[in-house]
Amino acid sequence: MTIPRHVAIVMDGNGRWAKARFLPRLMGHHRGVEAARKVIRACSDAGVGCLTLFAFSSENWKRPEEEVSGLMSLFISALEREAAALQRHNVRMRFIGDRSAFSSELRTKITQVEALTANCDGMQLLIAANYGGRWDILQAAQTLATQVLQGELSVAEIDETRFTAALSTGDAPEPDLFIRTGGERRISNFLMWQLAYAELYFTDTLWPEFDAASLQAAFADFASRQRRFGMTGDQVSGVKNA
Ligand code: IPE
Ligand code: IPE
Ligand code: MG
Repeated sequence: MTIPRHVAIVMDGNGRWAKARFLPRLMGHHRGVEAARKVIRACSDAGVGCLTLFAFSSENWKRPEEEVSGLMSLFISALEREAAALQRHNVRMRFIGDRSAFSSELRTKITQVEALTANCDGMQLLIAANYGGRWDILQAAQTLATQVLQGELSVAEIDETRFTAALSTGDAPEPDLFIRTGGERRISNFLMWQLAYAELYFTDTLWPEFDAASLQAAFADFASRQRRFGMTGDQVSGVKNA
């Protein structure tokens, strides 16, 4: 079975999972962290090269203060708890997003885990936190514009390769498979540029219930797709005289 090189997931449905059980939304997020831990492990075992998880969008600040601060505490405790295991499993973790809005405690934890796993050469794990696809495109444009102003780059040299490299995902391959749990069929300002040719997979399963078997189902669906990148089906399947 063809395993996607880069999987990008919108982990949605924690709140509804909790609500259905008359639990506070934060309990859903706690279970969401557990689901994330299992999916990270399953992706790494399956040989996925890069996994990007949408943990907190630039729009999620609009949520009630209690939920936002609960999520921030959860990120800190999850980082503390999982750092060593990530390193043991040879996973290189990086955060993408505008981290300047986070508390210094969270920023320190992020830097620590990134440093701890910097030399791991197994799966790359990108955690999108205070991330927005439009923010990413803007910050790449600003980086390149600065390079032009400083005479390091000419305008004509700004091509897709350079632009892609200036995005926060940097040298990661483009996502092959986009998964969104929780039933909504939208991108919600996730990897706007990078998802141009990703296969999209939507499931009604709420994130806390998404497990290794759900991931296998998504991979099987992915493996059944024909990715044409603008060509004809015959061209892709190698039919002669197509
Ligand atoms: C996704 O679950 C997690 C975050 C956005 C942090 P939600 O919290 O959006 O869950 P629903 O959509 O309310 O069920
Ligand atoms: C997207 O989920 C962000 C994350 C999963 C972190 P949301 O639940 O915030 O998306 P919308 O608001 O329903 O589009
Ligand atoms: Mg949601």
